[in-house]
Amino acid sequence: MIEKYSIKELLEKGKKFLNKKVLVEGWIRSFRNSIFITLNDGSTIKNLQIILSKNLEKEFLKKITIGSSIKVIGIIIESLGKKQSIELKSLDIKIYGEVNQKSFQKTILQPKKHSLETLRKQAHLRFRTNIFSSIMRVRHHVAFSIHKYFHEHGFFYINTPILTTLNAEGAGKMFQVTTMDLKNIPHIRENVDYTKDFFQCKTYLSVSGQLEAETASLALGKVYTFGPAFRAENSNTSRHLSEFWMIEPEMAFYHLEENMDRAEDFLKFVIRDTIENCTEDLSFLKDHIKKWNQKQKSTLLERLELILKFPFQRISYTEVINFLEKSIQKKMVKFNHPVIWGMDLQSEHEQYLVKKCFQCPVIVFDYPSCLKAFYMRINNDGKTVRAMDILFPEIGEIIGGSQREERYDILLKRIKDKNIDDRKLWWYLDTRRFGSVPHSGFGLGFDRLVQFITGMKNIRDVIPFPRTPHNAEF
Ligand code: 4AD
Ligand code: MG
Repeated sequence: MIEKYSIKELLEKGKKFLNKKVLVEGWIRSFRNSIFITLNDGSTIKNLQIILSKNLEKEFLKKITIGSSIKVIGIIIESLGKKQSIELKSLDIKIYGEVNQKSFQKTILQPKKHSLETLRKQAHLRFRTNIFSSIMRVRHHVAFSIHKYFHEHGFFYINTPILTTLNAEGAGKMFQVTTMDLKNIPHIRENVDYTKDFFQCKTYLSVSGQLEAETASLALGKVYTFGPAFRAENSNTSRHLSEFWMIEPEMAFYHLEENMDRAEDFLKFVIRDTIENCTEDLSFLKDHIKKWNQKQKSTLLERLELILKFPFQRISYTEVINFLEKSIQKKMVKFNHPVIWGMDLQSEHEQYLVKKCFQCPVIVFDYPSCLKAFYMRINNDGKTVRAMDILFPEIGEIIGGSQREERYDILLKRIKDKNIDDRKLWWYLDTRRFGSVPHSGFGLGFDRLVQFITGMKNIRDVIPFPRTPHNAEF
């Protein structure tokens, strides 16, 4: 039996494989002088050079084209070229799948520069490109690091439902789910009769698993979710997806300060771990980004290391407003949106704080209660809640979290004040009746973190199949 290896394994062990007979499989990246094939199998950004024997028939050679998939059995030899230490001298080659030459010209497999927008239009072939396969390998590693962090810190991974009857965040539109025949919707007088629907009530795709995670944390202590979230807002920005992935840790007996400490430690761990384990892909992305954006002063790695270097700046919402007002008065900055206590911070305000003023991530806490969800703990001033958002350069809000309202009466009042139907939340309220404790948590936008780490301008370029308004193909 001849052993099969990935290109990553072969190149990493390099000369240890010299003179060994091996089998490799992959897709052709280039073919030169009728003998040199560069092969990639997705395991690494690097390619393996294959040297064909000279006695292959012309008809067969015609089938060896960019994009076709092959199996090669050969002997590992030392490379004469400087680019790689080893190459494979082919003894036997088999073609699995040829490439349709007529359509090839229209695909992103063609070895020339394609824009990221063009790559998105061929999502099925996009994985074969250097840029996107690099991003996908990094994305995998970020996910792995996240699980590693929580596992090492005593958190339990729980799965919260995707189908729900609630809007946990209370803001924005949700995707409704139904099995009713839209051409023949049952009614009771003028109202839709949801008792005829699958769950006998109105159902949606979940915007967050937090409420369920809270109930679990009030028994297991520290838990986290890692799943998809769905939001039907019509926000066509470079940071919004209609379907995105979110990590939501929830910790019993945690106050807001401990929540902030945890979030900062967590982000730093994941970024550090990814830098250490994705050297080749990040180095490729660094060079790639340089080519597009000559203006960018710092390199990708410098920007990532800056996150690790200093403690995040912590500042209350009210202090932020005072600070921004002073900056305007001193004519240090001009904003398009007015600065008034009670407004939501706009991207221009966030970026001013992060990039110009503090030059590091900023944690803004104690937001006005009118801006935030019902579950956040109200402060003694009666006006602000124990919320915290972590703002990153370029991305803006990467984490949103809070200490939760653990006092039954106050929580019930908040629910009623926000016109939320408390009958749907009886099970959530019950946690505050049977051994309630101070507790906190946060939500990290996974795709936004991958976007930050890979330096991509648009969030659509870091997710395999982006879902955005008017776009659900693939
Ligand atoms: O601030 P959000 O809405 O918070 C929650 O959902 C809470 N339940 C979290 C918690 O306390 N457990 O969302 C959390 C994060 C945001 O900071 C952002 O990074 C990301 O989720 N996010 C999005 N990412 C991509 N596309 C969207 N449309 C996003 N909306 C939020
Ligand atoms: Mg938020």
